[in-house]
Amino acid sequence: MVRKVQSVKSKTKKKSAKTSKEKGVGGAMWGGRFAGGMAPSMEQLSVSLPFDHELYHEDIEGSMAHTLGLVAAGVLTTQERDLMISGLKGILTDLEMGLELFIPSDEDIHMAVERILTERIGDLGKKLHTGRSRNDQVATDFRLYVMRRAEDLVEQIEGLQFVLLKRAKDYRKDLMPGYTHMQQAQPVYIAHYLLSFFYALERDKSRLEHAWETAGEMPLGSGALAGSAFPYKRDLVAARLGFPHVTRNSIDATSHRDFALEFLGALNCLGVLLSSYAEDFVIWSTSEFGFLKLGEAYTSGSSMMPQKRNPDSMELVRGKAGRMLGAYTRLFTVLKGLPHAYDRDLQEDKEPVFDAAETAEVCLQVMTEVVATMEFQCKAILKKMQPALLATDLADLLVEKGMPFRDAHHVVGKLIGEAESKGVSFLDLPAKSWKDVPNAAVLRKKLTFVASAERRNIQGGTGSQSIAAQIKEAESLLK
Ligand code: ARG
Repeated sequence: MVRKVQSVKSKTKKKSAKTSKEKGVGGAMWGGRFAGGMAPSMEQLSVSLPFDHELYHEDIEGSMAHTLGLVAAGVLTTQERDLMISGLKGILTDLEMGLELFIPSDEDIHMAVERILTERIGDLGKKLHTGRSRNDQVATDFRLYVMRRAEDLVEQIEGLQFVLLKRAKDYRKDLMPGYTHMQQAQPVYIAHYLLSFFYALERDKSRLEHAWETAGEMPLGSGALAGSAFPYKRDLVAARLGFPHVTRNSIDATSHRDFALEFLGALNCLGVLLSSYAEDFVIWSTSEFGFLKLGEAYTSGSSMMPQKRNPDSMELVRGKAGRMLGAYTRLFTVLKGLPHAYDRDLQEDKEPVFDAAETAEVCLQVMTEVVATMEFQCKAILKKMQPALLATDLADLLVEKGMPFRDAHHVVGKLIGEAESKGVSFLDLPAKSWKDVPNAAVLRKKLTFVASAERRNIQGGTGSQSIAAQIKEAESLLK
């Protein structure tokens, strides 16, 4: 999602130039009971426009919907509503075009929009905030933001899943060593590995969908904390904004940000997942492994060592998971122990969420492109596969011959130990070493990587029939 807006940082950083009539930041909006303005240091602390301008879309849409509620409450005529809506639409269009509408005395996005509206449509603009507080307004904007980002991210995850599915089909017949503890463990098809990523992402989508639902209650009508005094049609406003529900308690509505925590929780599960696949791709693209070639566009060179082609894309995705975790901790820490209802601490809720959402978005994009362009080096991988990957298969074959599994494990373990001390593959040990293995010659022939994989057609296993079923299910999930 591209969100264009003027760069407000430079504008709002300047100390506001106060005239005797003006009261500086926010003063024109709430300064009735104040003799003077804020101290410059306090302004610097207070101003949130440099980051909450990100909510301009939600804020303006929220205000447009609010006018519907005000008509129903008898506060606005339909003509006034139409004038307000067209004024708000004009502001939205101008901001989308990148026009610089904000001024240093705008405290936050809510006040900025109201000021611009009043300047454009006159005194009518002053009626907009009837029955509303910035407390229910900001909660509404922020919930809408979370819902939209959650929707966008779900769509992006599906893009990554689509690519993973395609690559799984590309590598249906190619084997690799599966690892546990980063030691070669058992043969698996590369497709199986790629589908593990696909299915984990399925849960990330459902976590985001749940965060969407939690955010999907509209606070407008809650006022500052006690509820609006006007007979405001909350359902009408909620429907207009795409909220499936309205909040059921005005203190709850204005105080709590658990929907944002849930969203960050979902993003962090995703971030950690991406980081762990990124880590595999980093290791596998080393010359020691040589399993994977990353697309050149996702690697970078060294300023000193001409031979280097570093997997920076995947290292950054790995690193960004730490950044997202920071956002999660940051919001939790702000919220801990806050008294009810609204406290200004809550202004600190937005930046971590914006940052984590944007980070997740770019990480997903890069990961999708990396998966689409990476090339497994299938021949080199086969060469690195150690025969000991088949040790479990030999034990399983002995079990089929009636040997209890513990005994089979012991017999094979001895073979492997002997092979290791002699520096050969257990398959190359002489017949006398295999004396405890009944029917050894026949069993040995059954010990191939393909046979190992194909013994595992159990649901969810790496056998090719199981993979076909996984692919089929994956296809239906993406439909
Ligand atoms: N900028 C504020 C925030 O993000 C808006 C709400 C201000 N409410 C207030 N009572 N001062 O939380």
